[in-house]
Amino acid sequence: PAIYAVIPAAGIGTRMQADRPKQYLTLAGKTILEHTLNALASHAAISEVIVALHPDDPYFTDLPVAGSPWLTTVTGGNERADSVLNALRALSDDSWALVHDAARPCLDHEDIDRLLTVTDRDDVAGGILATPVRDTMKRAHAGQATVAHTESRDDLWHALTPQLFPTGLLRQALTDGLAAGQPITDEASAMELAGFEVALIDANPANIKITRPADLPLAAFYLQQQT
Ligand code: C5P
Repeated sequence: PAIYAVIPAAGIGTRMQADRPKQYLTLAGKTILEHTLNALASHAAISEVIVALHPDDPYFTDLPVAGSPWLTTVTGGNERADSVLNALRALSDDSWALVHDAARPCLDHEDIDRLLTVTDRDDVAGGILATPVRDTMKRAHAGQATVAHTESRDDLWHALTPQLFPTGLLRQALTDGLAAGQPITDEASAMELAGFEVALIDANPANIKITRPADLPLAAFYLQQQT
């Protein structure tokens, strides 16, 4: 079956305090979104890339990648999960959807290769890139910056992207999760709620999500290490 990359890029990125959404900030000569799109489109197993954009996005059409034959755009939604669903509607049930944050430009092909091995497994429905938690984890008193207790970090992982699932199963799981009013901050959370097993694939920690201004020089460093 075909593997399609789905990029939710319809967020407005208020935490960056920039004049434009973070995916349109420039990093090493290109926008973050272009680095992300190129990292996926350049992988031989990925047949097409579908990017979900904000309905009022004024930036995308000016990018050199806009109009590439391997690229399709759809309109994003209110939540990340709505944006992903809009992209999945264009895809056939028996394909695989590899969903990746626009704000993670440092993805490398080795990580994509490792994630793709889940398509051959019958013990899981799909999988996600993740990194084991290394710091000691504190649970705070609700809404406060004081410690209620220490959580065990055994068996705790950070969920990254890409996340890879059969398109038909993921579309149904996201639809049901949204209808149930569940918080869905990644694709795996919808699949878990639907009762599916999800593989954790140990990822390169360089695959950071750009969230704060200090992440930009760090991402530039990781991109430079790749070439
Ligand atoms: O805000 P956060 O960093 O969690 O966003 C993760 C990704 O989801 C970003 O690439 C963002 O553009 C995307 N997103 C979206 N539609 C929304 C909200 C976020 O495509 N409504």
